[in-house]
Amino acid sequence: MARRALPKIDPRIDLSRHLSELSALGERFDPAAWFGRSAPLEVEVGSGKGLFLVRAASERPDHDFVGVELAKQYARTCGAKLAKAGLTNALMISGDGVRFSDEFLADDSVAAFHVYFPDPWWKARHRKRRVLNRRLLQAIESKLVVGGRLHFWTDVQEYFESTLELIPRVTTLLDGPHPVAEPQSTHDLDYRTHFERRTRLAELPVYRAEFVRLPGQVVRPLPADGHDDEADDSDARDSGDEPTGVDASEA
Ligand SMILES: C[S@@+](CC[C@H](N)C(=O)[O-])C[C@H]1O[C@@H](n2cnc3c(N)ncnc32)[C@H](O)[C@@H]1O
Repeated sequence: MARRALPKIDPRIDLSRHLSELSALGERFDPAAWFGRSAPLEVEVGSGKGLFLVRAASERPDHDFVGVELAKQYARTCGAKLAKAGLTNALMISGDGVRFSDEFLADDSVAAFHVYFPDPWWKARHRKRRVLNRRLLQAIESKLVVGGRLHFWTDVQEYFESTLELIPRVTTLLDGPHPVAEPQSTHDLDYRTHFERRTRLAELPVYRAEFVRLPGQVVRPLPADGHDDEADDSDARDSGDEPTGVDASEA
């Protein structure tokens, strides 16, 4: 599928309140200081072109939103969309969402994590690059408030199933998977993300799950085999081909 160029960003747009490099945040992210208030915080890892962030921040003005995106151009585009929409409750961070979630957030401080259509990294030897790895899952478990939610959607059945198996192996307080019904879409951009739109317009399945943070002390289960989120190099699917509708470079 041909990739559309990202729209040019108007140089007059002031991005200073809507885009930050991860390295510019210091050692910790303080949402109350950034947003100037105390509100439930939602974090999206891998925001792509930012459809979720812009819509969710518009629809839930009483929540604050942080998206983290590794690809600098997507992060800039998304920050510009937030600025153009005049959203004071959303910030795009340019950088690694796994590192941000693990190192920059306080424990018990996040109402929801969102991970939509993460890059599949199909080859078995590349699978350790997947964002939904042990480090991110354990960060999510620690940073969620009790009752907080992890939302995970993908079009890759194998990624979905292996993540659902991984979660109880590396965490103890994420209750799920809770099923999520397919939402109705009533207009062209009435999808949670660009990848959901693309997948559903192609009439391909979307796999969705939610997990809820239980009360209790975080206990780290011992890895059964020492490399519980690593790739198994013997995997027969390691053909080297990019599969189906997902192009990891197209967000
Ligand atoms: C397949 S796209 C999906 C984008 C969007 N969530 C959607 O559903 O339309 C995955 C996105 O995750 C980003 N990404 C990959 N690894 C990341 C990481 N460690 N931290 C933040 N973003 C990451 C990629 O740059 C890409 O934009």
